[in-house]
Amino acid sequence: METQARWHGFDPDKAVVGVAPRPGEETLRTEDILATIQQHGDSIAVVMFSGVNYYTGQFFDIKAITEQAQCVGAFAGFDLAHAAGNLPLQLHDWGVDFACWCSYKYLNSGPGGPSGLFVHEKHGNDPNFPRFAGWWGHDEESRFQMRKGFKPMLGAAGWQLSNAQILSMAAHKVSLDMFDEVGMELLREKSLRLTAYLEYLLEQLNAVSRSPSAVHRFNIITPTNPEERGAQLSILTGSEGKKLFDYLTDNGVIADWREPNVIRVAPVPMYNSFKDCWRLADLLGRFEVRN
Ligand SMILES: Cc1ncc(COP(=O)(O)O)c(C=O)c1O
Repeated sequence: METQARWHGFDPDKAVVGVAPRPGEETLRTEDILATIQQHGDSIAVVMFSGVNYYTGQFFDIKAITEQAQCVGAFAGFDLAHAAGNLPLQLHDWGVDFACWCSYKYLNSGPGGPSGLFVHEKHGNDPNFPRFAGWWGHDEESRFQMRKGFKPMLGAAGWQLSNAQILSMAAHKVSLDMFDEVGMELLREKSLRLTAYLEYLLEQLNAVSRSPSAVHRFNIITPTNPEERGAQLSILTGSEGKKLFDYLTDNGVIADWREPNVIRVAPVPMYNSFKDCWRLADLLGRFEVRN
């Protein structure tokens, strides 16, 4: 965003407007996001938001943000790195202008896997829509005629810059086939139960926490409303957070440490079980006793 602002001749400190949680809160309120857009009105060119915030795991109201952005004449774009393959998304129906995502989180394609792009058909089917074009976005029938002028492919394909890395595309296809086979609806159904179960286990640990100093050790900052989260729970840890994270890693839990003191865990419905959640909670409980 900073370099985009600079490219257009603006000072990013002035041109990029951020939204922060209210004092004492960890996540954003939709009303505050919408109010900020309203407040800046038609001075806004693009509202760029994440679908799921990487740190807190908060899933934003993409439809409401899109409507508000378009209300002030802005485009609405979303970084869906943590949402793709995690939550059902209706980008077209929600009227989202554009979105992008990497495929190496919930979509399992491995580091460096291909990224995805959504462009709403109202833009994607307009060949005159301005863009930074690449040869792979050129109409494939006439691509090799090497004539002057850019004739884009229809849809998001018209934004492709270059041809894709075929080995990582092959791995990606296998993963996408699995998503097609299972379907996002079933995955979400299991995900809701799996995440709720892990949340319950963590709350149980907090309730029976033995040492007074550890009472808030498993303080979940991800929204408690299942509609506002996917498969991620972010746990705000105490002073022993990094030690706790290393202990989990040593015991076979693949979690994620985010500075300054958050452990992200993601019970992923495609391959994690309820027993995995139980094992994680069991390990956390043992750490508590040991320390
Ligand atoms: C929010 C977010 N956006 C984008 C990316 C990276 O995407 P890419 O590697 O396709 O640039 C990440 C990776 O961690 C991310 O967390």
